[in-house]
Amino acid sequence: MNIYKPNFLIFKDKNEADTFVSKTIIYTINKSKSKINLGLATGSTPIDVYKNLVKAYKSEKVDFIKVSTFNLDEYVGLTSNYYKKSYRYFMDNTLFDKININMNNTFFPINWNAEIKSSRTKFNEYDELIAKKGGIDLQILGIGENGHIAFNEPGTKLNSKTSKVNLTPETIEANSRFFKDANEVPRTSVTMGLNTILQAKKIILIAYGDKKLNALKALLSADSFNEEWPCTALLLHPNVTIVTDLINSICLN
Ligand code: F6R
Repeated sequence: MNIYKPNFLIFKDKNEADTFVSKTIIYTINKSKSKINLGLATGSTPIDVYKNLVKAYKSEKVDFIKVSTFNLDEYVGLTSNYYKKSYRYFMDNTLFDKININMNNTFFPINWNAEIKSSRTKFNEYDELIAKKGGIDLQILGIGENGHIAFNEPGTKLNSKTSKVNLTPETIEANSRFFKDANEVPRTSVTMGLNTILQAKKIILIAYGDKKLNALKALLSADSFNEEWPCTALLLHPNVTIVTDLINSICLN
């Protein structure tokens, strides 16, 4: 198995880093003559990147008509009262409703209110869909404090495809800030697997704030995949760029 060194870009602040990521997305869309597939993350990290994309669309710097999107993950078991906590709502509200993307080309691994009736549900049909549509050209990732990427928690296998997974207590706690309290956070989600993510042609991982420092250090110091830190799967991909604003923490420690 080949191990690659990710490109590591440390920006002076989050604003500069956001600008870099949004410009990279815009460039990727604009340079493509035909359709283009983006893999997208939710959470706090990419919010300002998406705001920049909306601004660029409004000032006619980018057109989303040929763009398809594949989100990394979605909670399982949200009732209709909780629609606004779903990742579908997050994406519609932050980005999709504000640009000219065709909503039929915005995909999630599961519908936010789907009932999973059978334990034999084939979640990895999402991987097949992505492959059928030509694969993900550019994948945007955030990172959990425990090193998760998408909802691939510590212990996830490298060959994992899209599947239903349990969230760890740390992730439930971290995500409780979006809910009334931790009891409201769903316990499961459907997430792209590590193998799904590694199929993307190019990956940008964004890590902002001191809380992500340990995970980032684990990734930068690893020399092979370590199940305890799922982000280390990225060492097996030849085209990964890590973007961070952790200039003080990284340079002083
Ligand atoms: C979200 C996702 C997660 C987040 C991670 C960081 O779609 O896949 O892996 O990227 O939990 O979340 P924030 O950005 O809220 O710190």
